[in-house]
Amino acid sequence: MNEKSRLFLDCDTGIDDSLALLYLLARGDVELVGVASTAGNVPADVVAANNLAWLDLCGRDDVPVHLGSPVPLAGALRTAEDTHGPHGVGYASLPPANTALSSVDAAGAWLAAADAHPGELIGLVIGPSTNLALALRADPDLPTKLKRLVIMGGAFGAAGNTTPVAEWNLVVDPESAAEVFAAFDRPDAPDPIVCGLNVTEQMILRPADVERLRECAADAPLVHHLAEALRFYFEFHRSQDEGYLAYAHDPFAAMVALDPRRVTGVAAHVEVELTGALTRAMTVADRRGMLGPPNAVVVTEADTSTMVDELVASLGALARRVTSRG
Ligand code: RIB
Ligand code: CA
Repeated sequence: MNEKSRLFLDCDTGIDDSLALLYLLARGDVELVGVASTAGNVPADVVAANNLAWLDLCGRDDVPVHLGSPVPLAGALRTAEDTHGPHGVGYASLPPANTALSSVDAAGAWLAAADAHPGELIGLVIGPSTNLALALRADPDLPTKLKRLVIMGGAFGAAGNTTPVAEWNLVVDPESAAEVFAAFDRPDAPDPIVCGLNVTEQMILRPADVERLRECAADAPLVHHLAEALRFYFEFHRSQDEGYLAYAHDPFAAMVALDPRRVTGVAAHVEVELTGALTRAMTVADRRGMLGPPNAVVVTEADTSTMVDELVASLGALARRVTSRG
């Protein structure tokens, strides 16, 4: 029996975060050690309520949910209800969970998870890096305890989605991302694997994929809620003239976190712009040693069609399992 992958998720649940969380729950070979709720798409307490609700729907009250900082490291919180809906899950109306939040906050949970599984824990950040940065301030050696860190964030050779040059997770808290790259820039820590918009916007969900989900488990509550969440996301992207579709940013990063071999990446030195009037939160990747030796792996290519198929199949199987839970 292969060992399970032990993973700690840090998210700003959100619609695509929801897909990533459910994908991880669908994977029988993943031990989800904990879920940190980071302010981003919606405020941290709403993120936490969404995480609890999805876990409760799947009968997974064994997975602890941790509340993160209400604000980024610097400046005021910016949220994206226009993109993810008033409660962060589009038109879905999730039954409130009966389970309570963990008494350990998100930064503390990062430290406890890494200390409990030294060298084995995969860290996956699919929202702003606020709580990881706070954990790193508390324990600068945290990077040496992780097996892997995968980040959904930035844009490399591609336009931003929040400013012309910057991606949402970085825009919400650029200081935290800069502190993460700096903290991991040491020979005894894994280089973060960074999934930017240049690849995550190639992983596209369409209404036909929702129909495929329905074919997997027609009457499953999970499919109904996912369809309602995605309907909002489709409408948002159409309002941006991108088509009636949804980018699966966070499930992309979740799949990379579990198997980086499935994508192509390049070693680069990545820095985050913090002071530019037009370029704040921009990720700058240098592959020619001008800024210093490589400190990250930037994902550049992936078979996103296969990844979409796998996501739909996994969510469909989970929906069937959950429905039959009695
Ligand atoms: O830019 C896309 C990222 O920002 C995704 O993680 C989405 O959920 C939002 O957090
Ligand atoms: Ca997210």
